[in-house]
Amino acid sequence: MYIDGFSGPGVHMVKKTGEFVLGSPLNALGIVPPFREHYLIDLDGDKVENLRALVGSRSDVHLFTGDCNKILLERVFPNVRWDQYRRGLCLLDPYGLHLDWEVLATAGRMRTMDVFLNFPTMDMNRNALWRSPGGVATEDLARMTAFWGDESWQAQAYRPVPQLGLFGDVDTEKASNDEIAEAFRKRLRDVAGFAYVPKPIPMRNSTRAVVYYLFFASHKSVATKIIEHIFERYGRM
Ligand SMILES: C[S@@+](CC[C@H](N)C(=O)[O-])C[C@H]1O[C@@H](n2cnc3c(N)ncnc32)[C@H](O)[C@@H]1O
Repeated sequence: MYIDGFSGPGVHMVKKTGEFVLGSPLNALGIVPPFREHYLIDLDGDKVENLRALVGSRSDVHLFTGDCNKILLERVFPNVRWDQYRRGLCLLDPYGLHLDWEVLATAGRMRTMDVFLNFPTMDMNRNALWRSPGGVATEDLARMTAFWGDESWQAQAYRPVPQLGLFGDVDTEKASNDEIAEAFRKRLRDVAGFAYVPKPIPMRNSTRAVVYYLFFASHKSVATKIIEHIFERYGRM
């Protein structure tokens, strides 16, 4: 089955050209041979209604309006049980720090799903991982902790730099985007328990800044080999 936690409205207009492009759920619905079931979730009711109008009524498509952190755990993942021979591909494409670690941890534990995750580097840098962390809002710190799963992100994102001087002062230095993504990759393997997590590919905007890293996490070596091949091809572009 195909599971899209942050499915969006189904189509998007490219501002520059006025062209319409298909979003992730419509791309998934066009795949041949098709997935047997599709679970599509978005928090925004207007986007879900737009998607419903595009998809039409189909018994293999289940649309949900609401927070995917709750809906995935309570209503979707229970349909992808190992002992019922169910298997899934789960796409998690948040704009920012809107995903709870428990979703990834549960997917890892269940061993039935491959996951694509857009790791939201730009939102993290804008709202939580400041060079001088003192001014970050409490709710943004909490969102970062919810995404990471615990507060260990602090030690990964900031390392002590001893200062020259008489008093042995210690300052901190922020880790690079690549280092933070690598620490999260390790968590997907060591804490969530995915057997294979290839190096993610950085996705950049027109000024070459990294907006997010595209991760793949799986329990299958064959799936991982295919994705590594694709990542290698597109990561170089
Ligand atoms: C980057 S867009 C997804 C785009 C989509 N993958 C596509 O290809 O068209 C992120 C979407 O997540 C939705 N969203 C934000 N927070 C959410 C949450 N907690 N649960 C479900 N959807 C959420 C937003 O309304 C938005 O449509």
